[in-house]
Amino acid sequence: MTRSGDRIDSPIANSFDTPLDAPIAAEADRRTLIDRFGRVHRSLRLSVTDRCNIRCFYCMPDEAIRFRRRAELLTDDEFARFVSVAARWGIERVRITGGEPLLRERLDRLVALLRAIPGIRELALTTNGMLLADQARGLRDAGLDRINISLDTLDPETFREIARRDGLERTLAGIDAALDAGFPKIRLNAVAIAGLIERDAVPLVEFARARGLEMRFIEFMPLDGDRNWTADRVVPGERLRQRIEAALGPLEPIDRSDPAQPAVDWRFADGSGVVGFIEPVSRPFCGACDRLRLTAEGQVRNCLFSTVEWDARALLRGGASDQALGELLRDCTAAKRAGHGIDSPAFERPERAMYQIGG
Ligand code: 5AD
Ligand code: SF4
Repeated sequence: MTRSGDRIDSPIANSFDTPLDAPIAAEADRRTLIDRFGRVHRSLRLSVTDRCNIRCFYCMPDEAIRFRRRAELLTDDEFARFVSVAARWGIERVRITGGEPLLRERLDRLVALLRAIPGIRELALTTNGMLLADQARGLRDAGLDRINISLDTLDPETFREIARRDGLERTLAGIDAALDAGFPKIRLNAVAIAGLIERDAVPLVEFARARGLEMRFIEFMPLDGDRNWTADRVVPGERLRQRIEAALGPLEPIDRSDPAQPAVDWRFADGSGVVGFIEPVSRPFCGACDRLRLTAEGQVRNCLFSTVEWDARALLRGGASDQALGELLRDCTAAKRAGHGIDSPAFERPERAMYQIGG
């Protein structure tokens, strides 16, 4: 049994046995988003739309999708107000996600609004890259600091198999545009799925390293819209790393500068590039998680795998005070579980799929 206030390193075993009435933050910490396990929350992910221009099977269903109506989505001003309150409660890093965030009209305007909020040190974006050729420059000018681009394969057929649409060429053009726009530290993300990633991992690393980009592999999580996830489709980061080393030479671990950062990064011993592994399934990092999430229609979640949400939109549209919004954030943080518990028999898959949460 975990005692309240204990900081835990192995959260999974404790996912379901922590009393929910444990005390929350001390009075002195009232403006810090700290949970029962001592985790201080500094990062916020904003999903700005649930729509996408492709249909990756690890995220979305292919058909019969009911997207949110526009009036249900938060407006730019509502996002900005929420973030300015969150910043006063200690949030420093914001990542914009989707769906595909570049489908939101004038994303550059939202970026400029968020950029102007005091206390936000880093503003990042996760995108599939297909619309970056048109938007990279404008986003950089608006103050976006960094970009992660999803790239699962360099083969057009495999792209179509995964995304159920064409789009590889546009994605590659988007990566070039992001490089031209001068973004520092562009990262490429691939979801590692058994039967697919084995062919692509090495070419992807070579592609990234030739351009000075970091390649990151993310273990497949049970958040696919079709609900077809099975544990045997997860390729552990460790196995992928061995495959990459065998083909391209030895890797050395890079010291972690930020413990809340989920990836474990490795550098080629010859200095030719960096490869990262995000291992939520084989090596859960929930013990150092500092993230909260806001969905496109204004629901706050304390975990990708939350089964509960806090309705910020009702407050934003109901004339609530900043204090009330801050208290919602505090309560949502206080209720955070130790970990996702994917391995536990009691694991409960959230209703929402990835595109409705924001990766
Ligand atoms: N498992 C792991 N990663 C996923 N992503 C989307 N769905 C999943 C999943 N089921 C990742 C994509 C994208 C980011 C938004 O989330 O790689 O880069
Ligand atoms: Fe779209 Fe991203 Fe989901 Fe793929 S992972 S369907 S690109 S939102």
